[in-house]
Amino acid sequence: MFEIKQSQRLQQLPPYLFKEIDRKKAEVKARGVDIIDLGVGDPDRPTPAHIIAALAETAKDKANHQYPSYNGMGDFREAVARWYSQRFEVKLDPDKEIVTLIGSKEGIAHVPLAFIDPGDVALVPEPAYPVYKIGTIFAGGEPYYMPLTEENGFLPDLEAIPEDVARKAKTMYINYPNNPTSACAGLDFYRRVVDFAQKYEIIVLSDAAYSEVALDGYVARSFLEADGALEVGLELHSLSKTYNMTGWRIGWAAGRAEIVRGLGMVKENVDSGAFQAVQFAGIAALEGDQKPVEEMRRMYARRRDVLVAGLREIGVRVTPPKATFYLWVRVPDGYTSAAFTAKLMDQTGIICTPGNGFGPSGEGYIRFALCQEEERLQEAVERIRELKL
Ligand SMILES: Cc1ncc(COP(=O)(O)O)c(C=O)c1O
Repeated sequence: MFEIKQSQRLQQLPPYLFKEIDRKKAEVKARGVDIIDLGVGDPDRPTPAHIIAALAETAKDKANHQYPSYNGMGDFREAVARWYSQRFEVKLDPDKEIVTLIGSKEGIAHVPLAFIDPGDVALVPEPAYPVYKIGTIFAGGEPYYMPLTEENGFLPDLEAIPEDVARKAKTMYINYPNNPTSACAGLDFYRRVVDFAQKYEIIVLSDAAYSEVALDGYVARSFLEADGALEVGLELHSLSKTYNMTGWRIGWAAGRAEIVRGLGMVKENVDSGAFQAVQFAGIAALEGDQKPVEEMRRMYARRRDVLVAGLREIGVRVTPPKATFYLWVRVPDGYTSAAFTAKLMDQTGIICTPGNGFGPSGEGYIRFALCQEEERLQEAVERIRELKL
Protein backbone atom coordinates (compact mmCIF):
# COMPACT_ATOMS: atom_id res chain seq x y z
CA MET A 1 0.00 0.00 0.00
CA PHE A 2 1.28 3.45 -0.81
CA GLU A 3 1.64 6.13 1.78
CA ILE A 4 -1.34 8.48 2.12
CA LYS A 5 0.09 11.93 2.51
CA GLN A 6 -2.15 14.74 3.65
CA SER A 7 -2.05 18.08 1.86
CA GLN A 8 0.01 20.83 3.41
CA ARG A 9 -3.32 22.52 4.01
CA LEU A 10 -4.28 19.78 6.47
CA GLN A 11 -0.81 19.44 7.90
CA GLN A 12 -0.87 23.16 8.63
CA LEU A 13 -3.89 22.81 10.91
CA PRO A 14 -3.14 23.60 14.54
CA PRO A 15 -3.06 20.60 16.90
CA TYR A 16 -6.47 19.60 18.23
CA LEU A 17 -6.53 21.46 21.52
CA PHE A 18 -9.47 19.60 22.97
CA LYS A 19 -7.77 16.21 22.70
CA GLU A 20 -6.61 16.36 26.29
CA ILE A 21 -10.10 17.37 27.50
CA ASP A 22 -11.67 14.53 25.53
CA ARG A 23 -9.21 12.10 27.09
CA LYS A 24 -9.91 13.40 30.58
CA LYS A 25 -13.66 13.40 29.98
CA ALA A 26 -13.52 9.72 29.01
CA GLU A 27 -11.45 8.98 32.12
CA VAL A 28 -13.88 10.81 34.45
CA LYS A 29 -16.86 9.13 32.76
CA ALA A 30 -15.22 5.73 33.22
CA ARG A 31 -15.08 6.45 36.97
CA GLY A 32 -18.87 6.57 36.84
CA VAL A 33 -19.06 10.34 37.46
CA ASP A 34 -22.30 12.01 36.33
CA ILE A 35 -20.95 14.55 33.85
CA ILE A 36 -22.52 17.99 33.37
CA ASP A 37 -21.37 19.08 29.94
CA LEU A 38 -21.22 22.87 29.66
CA GLY A 39 -18.59 22.64 26.94
CA VAL A 40 -20.57 22.54 23.74
CA GLY A 41 -22.57 25.52 22.43
CA ASP A 42 -25.44 23.55 20.96
CA PRO A 43 -29.00 24.47 22.09
CA ASP A 44 -30.48 21.56 24.06
CA ARG A 45 -34.18 22.36 23.48
CA PRO A 46 -36.09 21.14 20.40
CA THR A 47 -36.88 23.22 17.33
CA PRO A 48 -40.32 24.90 17.73
CA ALA A 49 -43.17 22.66 16.50
CA HIS A 50 -44.45 24.98 13.74
CA ILE A 51 -41.01 24.91 12.08
CA ILE A 52 -40.89 21.11 12.17
CA ALA A 53 -44.44 21.04 10.74
CA ALA A 54 -43.36 23.25 7.83
CA LEU A 55 -40.53 20.84 7.04
CA ALA A 56 -42.79 17.78 7.30
CA GLU A 57 -45.33 19.33 4.97
CA THR A 58 -42.93 20.64 2.31
CA ALA A 59 -40.79 17.49 2.40
CA LYS A 60 -43.77 15.66 0.84
CA ASP A 61 -43.80 17.87 -2.24
CA LYS A 62 -41.79 16.25 -5.02
CA ALA A 63 -40.86 19.68 -6.36
CA ASN A 64 -38.57 19.89 -3.34
CA HIS A 65 -36.86 16.58 -4.03
CA GLN A 66 -34.70 17.82 -6.86
CA TYR A 67 -31.59 19.99 -6.78
CA PRO A 68 -32.41 23.33 -5.20
CA SER A 69 -31.17 26.53 -6.82
CA TYR A 70 -27.55 27.34 -5.99
CA ASN A 71 -28.23 30.76 -4.50
CA GLY A 72 -31.15 29.58 -2.45
CA MET A 73 -34.87 29.68 -3.05
CA GLY A 74 -36.25 33.06 -4.00
CA ASP A 75 -38.94 32.75 -1.31
CA PHE A 76 -36.31 32.17 1.38
CA ARG A 77 -34.14 35.08 0.22
CA GLU A 78 -37.21 37.32 0.16
CA ALA A 79 -38.09 36.25 3.71
CA VAL A 80 -34.53 37.15 4.79
CA ALA A 81 -34.85 40.55 3.07
CA ARG A 82 -38.15 41.21 4.89
CA TRP A 83 -36.55 40.13 8.17
CA TYR A 84 -33.59 42.52 7.71
CA SER A 85 -35.98 45.31 6.84
CA GLN A 86 -38.22 44.74 9.87
CA ARG A 87 -35.49 43.90 12.34
CA PHE A 88 -32.78 46.40 11.34
CA GLU A 89 -34.38 48.70 8.74
CA VAL A 90 -31.74 47.48 6.30
CA LYS A 91 -33.01 47.19 2.71
CA LEU A 92 -31.54 44.31 0.73
CA ASP A 93 -32.09 43.09 -2.82
CA PRO A 94 -32.95 39.40 -2.36
CA ASP A 95 -31.64 38.56 -5.85
CA LYS A 96 -28.22 40.17 -5.64
CA GLU A 97 -27.50 40.79 -1.98
CA ILE A 98 -28.54 37.53 -0.28
CA VAL A 99 -27.41 33.93 -0.68
CA THR A 100 -28.72 30.92 1.28
CA LEU A 101 -26.08 28.99 3.23
CA ILE A 102 -25.97 25.42 4.50
CA GLY A 103 -25.45 26.87 7.98
CA SER A 104 -23.34 30.00 8.52
CA LYS A 105 -20.20 27.90 9.11
CA GLU A 106 -20.33 26.89 5.47
CA GLY A 107 -20.26 30.52 4.34
CA ILE A 108 -17.58 31.51 6.85
CA ALA A 109 -15.34 28.70 5.60
CA HIS A 110 -16.02 29.24 1.88
CA VAL A 111 -15.87 33.01 1.58
CA PRO A 112 -12.04 33.20 1.69
CA LEU A 113 -11.88 31.02 -1.44
CA ALA A 114 -13.58 33.87 -3.26
CA PHE A 115 -11.34 36.72 -2.12
CA ILE A 116 -8.10 35.41 -0.62
CA ASP A 117 -5.14 34.45 -2.79
CA PRO A 118 -2.09 32.63 -1.40
CA GLY A 119 -0.17 34.99 0.85
CA ASP A 120 -3.04 37.46 1.30
CA VAL A 121 -3.72 38.68 4.81
CA ALA A 122 -7.02 38.23 6.65
CA LEU A 123 -7.63 40.10 9.91
CA VAL A 124 -8.91 37.51 12.36
CA PRO A 125 -9.95 38.10 15.97
CA GLU A 126 -8.74 35.83 18.75
CA PRO A 127 -10.08 34.30 20.93
CA ALA A 128 -12.68 33.34 18.32
CA TYR A 129 -14.73 30.73 16.57
CA PRO A 130 -11.93 28.74 14.89
CA VAL A 131 -13.42 28.70 11.38
CA TYR A 132 -12.27 32.28 10.55
CA LYS A 133 -8.67 31.17 10.91
CA ILE A 134 -9.10 27.76 9.29
CA GLY A 135 -11.07 29.11 6.30
CA THR A 136 -8.30 31.64 5.72
CA ILE A 137 -5.56 29.00 5.96
CA PHE A 138 -7.43 26.67 3.60
CA ALA A 139 -7.48 29.44 1.00
CA GLY A 140 -3.70 29.90 1.40
CA GLY A 141 -4.12 33.18 3.27
CA GLU A 142 -2.29 34.38 6.33
CA PRO A 143 -4.36 35.28 9.40
CA TYR A 144 -3.22 38.40 11.24
CA TYR A 145 -4.62 38.06 14.73
CA MET A 146 -6.46 40.89 16.43
CA PRO A 147 -6.47 40.16 20.19
CA LEU A 148 -9.76 40.70 21.98
CA THR A 149 -9.01 41.83 25.50
CA GLU A 150 -11.14 42.70 28.48
CA GLU A 151 -9.68 46.25 28.65
CA ASN A 152 -11.02 46.85 25.15
CA GLY A 153 -14.43 45.37 25.86
CA PHE A 154 -13.33 42.41 23.70
CA LEU A 155 -13.44 44.62 20.59
CA PRO A 156 -10.41 44.59 18.26
CA ASP A 157 -8.14 47.62 18.58
CA LEU A 158 -8.11 48.80 14.98
CA GLU A 159 -5.45 51.40 15.71
CA ALA A 160 -3.06 48.69 16.87
CA ILE A 161 -3.06 47.06 13.42
CA PRO A 162 0.19 48.08 11.71
CA GLU A 163 -0.27 50.22 8.60
CA ASP A 164 1.51 47.72 6.31
CA VAL A 165 -0.69 44.87 7.57
CA ALA A 166 -3.84 46.93 7.06
CA ARG A 167 -2.74 47.76 3.51
CA LYS A 168 -2.15 44.10 2.71
CA ALA A 169 -5.35 42.84 4.35
CA LYS A 170 -8.13 41.65 2.08
CA THR A 171 -10.72 40.65 4.67
CA MET A 172 -11.59 41.19 8.31
CA TYR A 173 -13.80 38.94 10.41
CA ILE A 174 -15.83 40.38 13.27
CA ASN A 175 -18.36 38.58 15.45
CA TYR A 176 -20.87 40.27 17.80
CA PRO A 177 -22.55 39.21 19.98
CA ASN A 178 -19.31 37.31 20.42
CA ASN A 179 -18.41 33.71 20.90
CA PRO A 180 -16.60 32.98 23.21
CA THR A 181 -16.46 36.27 25.18
CA SER A 182 -20.20 37.11 24.88
CA ALA A 183 -19.21 40.76 24.30
CA CYS A 184 -21.53 42.99 22.28
CA ALA A 185 -20.77 45.77 19.81
CA GLY A 186 -22.64 49.00 19.22
CA LEU A 187 -23.13 50.99 16.04
CA ASP A 188 -20.23 53.26 16.97
CA PHE A 189 -17.86 50.30 16.68
CA TYR A 190 -19.42 49.21 13.39
CA ARG A 191 -19.02 52.75 12.02
CA ARG A 192 -15.31 52.67 12.90
CA VAL A 193 -14.98 49.32 11.15
CA VAL A 194 -16.62 50.75 8.02
CA ASP A 195 -14.20 53.72 8.01
CA PHE A 196 -11.22 51.40 8.47
CA ALA A 197 -12.45 49.06 5.73
CA GLN A 198 -13.01 51.92 3.32
CA LYS A 199 -9.61 53.44 4.03
CA TYR A 200 -7.75 50.15 3.45
CA GLU A 201 -10.20 48.54 0.99
CA ILE A 202 -10.98 45.56 3.17
CA ILE A 203 -13.99 43.25 2.91
CA VAL A 204 -15.68 42.98 6.32
CA LEU A 205 -17.18 39.61 7.19
CA SER A 206 -19.53 40.07 10.13
CA ASP A 207 -20.66 36.87 11.84
CA ALA A 208 -23.99 37.63 13.51
CA ALA A 209 -25.02 34.08 14.48
CA TYR A 210 -25.99 35.19 18.00
CA SER A 211 -27.78 38.47 17.22
CA GLU A 212 -31.12 37.14 18.46
CA VAL A 213 -29.80 35.39 21.57
CA ALA A 214 -30.10 38.69 23.43
CA LEU A 215 -31.01 38.80 27.11
CA ASP A 216 -32.73 41.24 29.50
CA GLY A 217 -34.28 43.25 26.65
CA TYR A 218 -30.93 43.93 24.96
CA VAL A 219 -31.33 44.42 21.19
CA ALA A 220 -28.21 43.64 19.14
CA ARG A 221 -27.37 45.82 16.16
CA SER A 222 -26.34 44.59 12.73
CA PHE A 223 -23.08 45.59 11.06
CA LEU A 224 -25.17 46.34 7.96
CA GLU A 225 -26.94 49.13 9.86
CA ALA A 226 -23.78 51.25 9.85
CA ASP A 227 -23.62 53.85 7.07
CA GLY A 228 -21.53 52.51 4.21
CA ALA A 229 -21.49 48.92 5.53
CA LEU A 230 -23.20 47.66 2.39
CA GLU A 231 -20.26 49.01 0.39
CA VAL A 232 -17.67 46.99 2.31
CA GLY A 233 -19.29 44.03 3.94
CA LEU A 234 -21.10 40.79 4.21
CA GLU A 235 -23.07 39.59 7.23
CA LEU A 236 -23.25 35.86 7.84
CA HIS A 237 -26.30 34.72 9.70
CA SER A 238 -27.89 31.59 10.98
CA LEU A 239 -31.14 30.09 12.18
CA SER A 240 -29.18 27.63 14.35
CA LYS A 241 -29.12 29.46 17.65
CA THR A 242 -32.29 31.55 17.38
CA TYR A 243 -34.60 28.62 16.63
CA ASN A 244 -32.66 25.63 18.03
CA MET A 245 -31.89 24.51 14.49
CA THR A 246 -28.19 23.59 14.63
CA GLY A 247 -28.88 20.21 13.03
CA TRP A 248 -30.88 21.62 10.13
CA ARG A 249 -28.00 23.47 8.44
CA ILE A 250 -29.56 26.69 7.29
CA GLY A 251 -28.31 30.26 7.27
CA TRP A 252 -27.53 33.06 4.84
CA ALA A 253 -25.05 35.71 3.85
CA ALA A 254 -26.18 39.25 3.02
CA GLY A 255 -24.24 42.27 1.86
CA ARG A 256 -22.59 43.99 -1.08
CA ALA A 257 -23.64 42.28 -4.33
CA GLU A 258 -20.09 41.51 -5.58
CA ILE A 259 -19.19 39.85 -2.28
CA VAL A 260 -22.39 37.78 -2.30
CA ARG A 261 -21.69 36.91 -5.94
CA GLY A 262 -18.12 35.74 -5.15
CA LEU A 263 -19.32 33.49 -2.35
CA GLY A 264 -22.14 32.26 -4.61
CA MET A 265 -19.60 31.32 -7.31
CA VAL A 266 -17.61 29.21 -4.83
CA LYS A 267 -20.80 27.53 -3.66
CA GLU A 268 -21.98 26.79 -7.20
CA ASN A 269 -18.84 24.74 -7.62
CA VAL A 270 -18.74 22.89 -4.32
CA ASP A 271 -22.31 22.38 -3.15
CA SER A 272 -25.75 22.28 -4.67
CA GLY A 273 -27.71 24.38 -2.22
CA ALA A 274 -29.82 23.70 0.86
CA PHE A 275 -32.76 21.22 0.79
CA GLN A 276 -35.77 23.32 -0.20
CA ALA A 277 -37.98 21.87 2.54
CA VAL A 278 -35.40 23.15 5.05
CA GLN A 279 -35.59 26.57 3.41
CA PHE A 280 -39.40 26.48 3.72
CA ALA A 281 -38.92 25.62 7.39
CA GLY A 282 -36.52 28.59 7.57
CA ILE A 283 -39.27 30.86 6.23
CA ALA A 284 -41.65 29.47 8.88
CA ALA A 285 -38.99 30.27 11.49
CA LEU A 286 -38.43 33.85 10.33
CA GLU A 287 -42.08 34.69 9.66
CA GLY A 288 -43.98 32.49 12.12
CA ASP A 289 -44.70 32.85 15.83
CA GLN A 290 -41.75 34.50 17.62
CA LYS A 291 -42.96 33.60 21.14
CA PRO A 292 -40.54 30.64 21.31
CA VAL A 293 -37.67 33.10 20.73
CA GLU A 294 -38.88 35.26 23.62
CA GLU A 295 -39.13 32.17 25.82
CA MET A 296 -35.63 31.08 24.73
CA ARG A 297 -34.23 34.46 25.82
CA ARG A 298 -35.87 34.25 29.24
CA MET A 299 -34.65 30.68 29.64
CA TYR A 300 -31.00 31.55 28.93
CA ALA A 301 -31.25 34.56 31.25
CA ARG A 302 -32.48 32.30 34.08
CA ARG A 303 -29.76 29.74 33.41
CA ARG A 304 -27.15 32.50 33.32
CA ASP A 305 -28.33 33.88 36.66
CA VAL A 306 -28.11 30.46 38.32
CA LEU A 307 -24.53 29.85 37.22
CA VAL A 308 -23.32 33.42 37.77
CA ALA A 309 -24.61 33.32 41.37
CA GLY A 310 -22.89 29.99 41.99
CA LEU A 311 -19.57 31.14 40.58
CA ARG A 312 -19.66 34.37 42.55
CA GLU A 313 -20.22 32.41 45.74
CA ILE A 314 -16.81 30.83 45.37
CA GLY A 315 -15.22 34.17 44.50
CA VAL A 316 -14.94 33.72 40.74
CA ARG A 317 -15.10 36.98 38.77
CA VAL A 318 -17.79 36.96 36.11
CA THR A 319 -19.70 39.63 34.20
CA PRO A 320 -23.24 38.47 33.36
CA PRO A 321 -23.54 38.55 29.55
CA LYS A 322 -26.34 40.45 27.86
CA ALA A 323 -26.24 38.20 24.79
CA THR A 324 -25.22 34.70 23.66
CA PHE A 325 -25.54 31.61 25.85
CA TYR A 326 -21.93 31.70 27.00
CA LEU A 327 -20.31 32.72 30.26
CA TRP A 328 -16.72 33.89 29.77
CA VAL A 329 -15.13 33.55 33.14
CA ARG A 330 -11.73 34.49 34.55
CA VAL A 331 -10.07 31.49 36.20
CA PRO A 332 -9.12 31.95 39.87
CA ASP A 333 -5.61 33.24 40.59
CA GLY A 334 -2.91 30.66 40.26
CA TYR A 335 -4.60 28.60 37.57
CA THR A 336 -4.20 28.39 33.81
CA SER A 337 -7.27 27.80 31.64
CA ALA A 338 -6.28 24.18 31.14
CA ALA A 339 -5.48 23.56 34.81
CA PHE A 340 -8.81 24.97 36.03
CA THR A 341 -10.76 23.10 33.34
CA ALA A 342 -9.06 19.86 34.43
CA LYS A 343 -9.70 20.55 38.13
CA LEU A 344 -13.35 21.33 37.50
CA MET A 345 -13.78 18.14 35.53
CA ASP A 346 -11.87 16.01 38.02
CA GLN A 347 -13.51 17.29 41.20
CA THR A 348 -17.03 18.14 40.00
CA GLY A 349 -17.66 16.34 36.68
CA ILE A 350 -18.44 19.72 35.09
CA ILE A 351 -17.07 20.24 31.60
CA CYS A 352 -16.18 23.69 30.32
CA THR A 353 -13.95 24.88 27.49
CA PRO A 354 -10.52 26.35 28.26
CA GLY A 355 -10.28 29.88 26.84
CA ASN A 356 -6.88 29.34 25.22
CA GLY A 357 -8.55 26.81 22.91
CA PHE A 358 -10.03 29.86 21.11
CA GLY A 359 -6.70 31.68 20.82
CA PRO A 360 -3.81 32.80 23.03
CA SER A 361 -5.67 35.84 24.38
CA GLY A 362 -8.22 33.44 25.82
CA GLU A 363 -5.61 32.17 28.29
CA GLY A 364 -6.80 32.84 31.83
CA TYR A 365 -10.46 32.30 30.94
CA ILE A 366 -12.88 29.41 30.62
CA ARG A 367 -16.17 29.29 28.74
CA PHE A 368 -19.39 27.76 30.00
CA ALA A 369 -22.20 27.08 27.51
CA LEU A 370 -25.65 27.39 29.09
CA CYS A 371 -27.04 24.48 27.08
CA GLN A 372 -28.30 22.38 30.00
CA GLU A 373 -31.56 22.67 31.92
CA GLU A 374 -31.74 24.95 34.96
CA GLU A 375 -31.87 21.97 37.38
CA ARG A 376 -28.61 20.65 35.97
CA LEU A 377 -27.05 24.08 36.39
CA GLN A 378 -28.33 24.14 40.00
CA GLU A 379 -26.64 20.79 40.43
CA ALA A 380 -23.46 22.24 38.90
CA VAL A 381 -23.60 25.10 41.41
CA GLU A 382 -23.97 22.65 44.31
CA ARG A 383 -20.86 20.87 43.12
CA ILE A 384 -18.94 24.10 42.54
CA ARG A 385 -19.66 25.05 46.17
CA GLU A 386 -17.71 21.97 47.27
CA LEU A 387 -14.75 22.84 45.05
CA LYS A 388 -11.55 23.38 46.98
CA LEU A 389 -9.56 26.14 45.30
C1 LIG B 1 -19.64 32.48 16.31
C2 LIG B 1 -20.26 31.39 15.52
N1 LIG B 1 -20.48 31.57 14.23
C3 LIG B 1 -21.02 30.63 13.46
C4 LIG B 1 -21.36 29.40 13.98
C5 LIG B 1 -21.90 28.35 13.05
O1 LIG B 1 -23.26 28.18 13.15
P1 LIG B 1 -24.09 27.44 12.03
O2 LIG B 1 -23.14 26.87 11.02
O3 LIG B 1 -24.85 26.37 12.73
O4 LIG B 1 -24.96 28.49 11.41
C6 LIG B 1 -21.16 29.15 15.33
C7 LIG B 1 -21.50 27.83 15.90
O5 LIG B 1 -21.26 27.50 17.02
C8 LIG B 1 -20.59 30.17 16.13
O6 LIG B 1 -20.36 29.99 17.43
